Amino acid sequence: MTTPLVVGNWKTNGCQSESVNLARAIVRLKRRCPARVQLAVAPPFTALASVTRALRRSGIGVAAQNCHWLESGAFTGEVSPTMLRDVGCDMVILGHSERRHIFHETDAVVAQKVEAALRNGLRVILCVGETLAERRQGRTAKVITRQFRIALKGLAKNAIDNIEIAYEPVWAIGTGQNASPVQIARVHRRIRQLLTGRFGKAAGSRSRILYGGSVKPDNAAVLATTGEVGGFLVGGASLAAESFMSIARCFNQELN
Ligand code: 13P
Repeated sequence: MTTPLVVGNWKTNGCQSESVNLARAIVRLKRRCPARVQLAVAPPFTALASVTRALRRSGIGVAAQNCHWLESGAFTGEVSPTMLRDVGCDMVILGHSERRHIFHETDAVVAQKVEAALRNGLRVILCVGETLAERRQGRTAKVITRQFRIALKGLAKNAIDNIEIAYEPVWAIGTGQNASPVQIARVHRRIRQLLTGRFGKAAGSRSRILYGGSVKPDNAAVLATTGEVGGFLVGGASLAAESFMSIARCFNQELN
């Protein structure tokens, strides 16, 4: 089994000192009681450099929460993939529903960002997910398929080695209402079919698919035992080291 990946998406929370303290607390807990998973955190842009320093030699990855699709130029307020590499980022989250729905990022924009991030040596965590209205209209599979196909259009087959897909139903994000194991398994199976169709059988079977949306210490164990879950993308519960690590440790039993 591929090692699960658990990523803390800190969103727009924490100034530098808070972010560094949180990163250090995660390192301490990881030493005391290891989680048998790969860990990463996604601090806000302003804390990326200091968190990267705090996590040096910890084995914990650092992701950005977004990036622009060009290396440089007149794009006031944007941060490029080159700049992310420069501060020591390994990964970038792209297509997060907050980017799609609050900042109106289209599938085509997400695709440009995915291509640019990969070209600059960043691993990509690509988020896909349906809104509540789309789910109620029975369009979940259709929406996921569209987001997947457009975002990954034109990439070489081996690009998948540097991409993680995260299923984040919009209605489960920050609402305290997680998707059920059955709902997750159904969508993850669809994503696996898409991976196989697009990148080949081996990629389809070995890729880990993350789930995100109200993952908490008290529901993580149940969600982790959903066979199709290869890790979590955690928002609110990643803002405290103890709850983040207790979520990560849920996979320990799974791996026994
Ligand atoms: P919550 O865990 O706060 O629901 O957020 C999920 C998320 O958006 C992770 O990217």
